Amino acid sequence: MNTAHSPEIAETVYRLDGPLRWALGEVQDLLRTVGAAPGQQVIDVGAGTGYAAVPAARAVGPQGSVHCVDGSPELLDVLAARAAREGVADRVTRTVGSVVPLPAADDSADLVISTYVLHELADDAPAAIAEMHRVLRPGGRVALADYRKTADKERNREIEAWYARQPDGAGPEEVHLRFSLGELEEMLRAAGFHRIELRTWHDFHVHATAEK
Ligand SMILES: C[S@@+](CC[C@H](N)C(=O)[O-])C[C@H]1O[C@@H](n2cnc3c(N)ncnc32)[C@H](O)[C@@H]1O
Repeated sequence: MNTAHSPEIAETVYRLDGPLRWALGEVQDLLRTVGAAPGQQVIDVGAGTGYAAVPAARAVGPQGSVHCVDGSPELLDVLAARAAREGVADRVTRTVGSVVPLPAADDSADLVISTYVLHELADDAPAAIAEMHRVLRPGGRVALADYRKTADKERNREIEAWYARQPDGAGPEEVHLRFSLGELEEMLRAAGFHRIELRTWHDFHVHATAEK
């Protein structure tokens, strides 16, 4: 962790960059499922410190590109440092900006990835998914990872209470398990996606892939 960051950003970097999180190989699974391949143009929506962007940059190789969009310049600085350390900086670009509207042209990406962002967007999630659809070329694919609301209300309460106790600023008002699988599928369908596939990952997480 870079101790030059403000305490708030340092906590966020600590949470996003936990070694267990990186060791689980989640993004590699997701990239394999969605068919990430050398030469692709990728947009990472809400890229943070590069949890998805760095593995994506490896998957697309030197002929590909990963355009990282995030509202936090500090987190994108951490991402850039990681990309340099891991030898993929040549294909990673970053834009400080909003996810609605996305700073990208229509039909410009082969692949859009977005991990653990939709729950933060809450009511803006449908608009963000519509933006992901807009920037994908026809036949392009989206890969999403996030928390999912399970059918077990007691389990949902336990998980939310655990997050509320964490020291990184997450409080009772921060809802992680915001969307059920059905709600996520409906948002993708409403945005115009088809070939939608959803799978649970480690109990209360969801991976979704779909095609424009
Ligand atoms: C929980 S973090 C996930 C980061 C990264 N994708 C990961 O999986 O580690 C959510 C990210 O979304 C970004 N974010 C949330 N709302 C945003 C918005 N409206 N516009 C741009 N970025 C946003 C935050 O700055 C943060 O980096």
